[in-house]
Amino acid sequence: MLEKMSTFLDRVGVLVKGGCSDMLATRKKNGLLSARERIEALLDRDTFNEIDLFVEQSGRDFGLDKLKLVGDGVITGFGKINDRSVCIYAQDFMVQGGSLGRMHAAKITKIMDMASDMGVPVIGINDSGGARIQEGVDSLAGYGEIFLRNTLNSGKIPQISVIMGPCAGGAVYSPALTDFVFMVENLSRMFVTGPKVIESVLGEKVAPEALGGAKVHNSITGNAHYYCKNEYETFDRIRTLLSYLPSAWDKDVPKTAPLPPKYTQGLASIIPEDTRKAYDVKDVIRAIVDSSEFFESQELFAGNVVVGFARMNGSPIGIVANQPNVKAGCLDVDSSDKTARFVRFCDAFGLPLLTLVDLPGYLPGMDQEHAGIIRHGAKLIFAYSEASVPTVTLILRKAYGGGYIAMSSKHLKTDFVFALPTAEVAVMGPESACNIIFAKEIKAAEDPEKVRVQKIEEYKEKFSNPYNPASKGYVDAIIHPEETRSKLIQAFEMASTKTPMQKSHKHGCIPL
Ligand code: HXC
Repeated sequence: MLEKMSTFLDRVGVLVKGGCSDMLATRKKNGLLSARERIEALLDRDTFNEIDLFVEQSGRDFGLDKLKLVGDGVITGFGKINDRSVCIYAQDFMVQGGSLGRMHAAKITKIMDMASDMGVPVIGINDSGGARIQEGVDSLAGYGEIFLRNTLNSGKIPQISVIMGPCAGGAVYSPALTDFVFMVENLSRMFVTGPKVIESVLGEKVAPEALGGAKVHNSITGNAHYYCKNEYETFDRIRTLLSYLPSAWDKDVPKTAPLPPKYTQGLASIIPEDTRKAYDVKDVIRAIVDSSEFFESQELFAGNVVVGFARMNGSPIGIVANQPNVKAGCLDVDSSDKTARFVRFCDAFGLPLLTLVDLPGYLPGMDQEHAGIIRHGAKLIFAYSEASVPTVTLILRKAYGGGYIAMSSKHLKTDFVFALPTAEVAVMGPESACNIIFAKEIKAAEDPEKVRVQKIEEYKEKFSNPYNPASKGYVDAIIHPEETRSKLIQAFEMASTKTPMQKSHKHGCIPL
């Protein structure tokens, strides 16, 4: 027994050390954690249980048979975050660039299946050059099997991807299929085709950071959701994200003790009455949610709409809000995509939705029309129409045109639509509307400017208020700004027993 124990401990010792010691030393010098250290830094202390430590690579071609690829370049297992179970894997760049061969993939799919069967989130720490070139079709098959599971688990368990090194090919497509992607400044890279391949195919030299760094994917492409300064900040933010999410679609959301907002400024003083004046809608959010804590997603992408998580009376909710500070809060191609995806995530995981409306409509112009605002904007209408979680809307100020309809209006079967006294609901703003419908009258007038101003005043009187939609039942109640939080809490409480409508067919065809 003693002899066998000592052999066992020796073998474990070698495997746990991971890639070669030279590389480990270089990583340490560069301030980088190893794959194992990353897992340990993310999970609750001493909760990691590794599985498949003894798995060996199966590749034999191009000299692979002479290499000892420790753990086949990936560490997999389960553990706890905030005392709740999660499954996790971390690729080891020190082992053949974290590249994915057949057994590496088999380890990952096993842990994904475990997460799916047990109903717990799965977190993938990606640090990989993609499909292992030497293993040919076996590597591609491996990624195919991962992608299939990413897809089948979508909406069933939360899937979180962390990019912690240069990631290419399958190591970016799997994250793209998951719910949230975290990237780290100066460390993470995502590209379908790596710079070395680009150079040999196209003869172009490209800087990895400019091709697919954390800034690029957080602010330009929208592939990433969180921009983090370093590895430790990333782990903190993953823990925070998970604190808002259920472990699986059919599990309860994690509730905490209700706490009043810390931010005490009233809505009446945050929202300027003059509809041409901008303000920060995050101040509105902070004034109404528990502890004034708002965990924003995709903060650097399409800032004209703000999305993220918060708590109301201790229960997590998803928030969508037009941001008057950026492009007047208009809906454009990117903000429609961002919002539609967020709404569908919340709907899949039973997170009630609060929508704060203040927008002049869809962003006009040739750029947006040609970029497909019709198709992208349609996704948002589709997502809200399909949502069956409790939905509450508060119209803060402007709610014009298609934007009014799309932003969780009563017509899309929103449970409660409230409006502040400053709300205005109309097909379009007074100036544009009068220039169209009274064009002839204004032109024929002796004093066209006087008539124009008069017509605008008439229009405002008729449409630029919440009483007109409230008189038709499109707004359920006009509320005093000071009672906003209490009204929203009561509405969410009332909607918490809502039974989602059952679908009579397979699935809709969202205009992707
Ligand atoms: C096998 C790989 C590899 C790969 C890297 N390595 N990528 N081995 N297959 N895909 C090995 C290198 O040979 C090297 O081994 C070690 O990992 C470190 O790589 P370096 O190139 O030295 O590191 P670095 O300069 O940091 O560059 C990292 C990189 C680059 C940007 C990831 O290696 C690269 O561009 N790799 C190719 C990426 C790519 O295009 N992959 C697509 C695969 S297709 P040694 O022994 O020298 O230390 C794919 C299909 C899936 O994934 C489906 C997609 C839809």
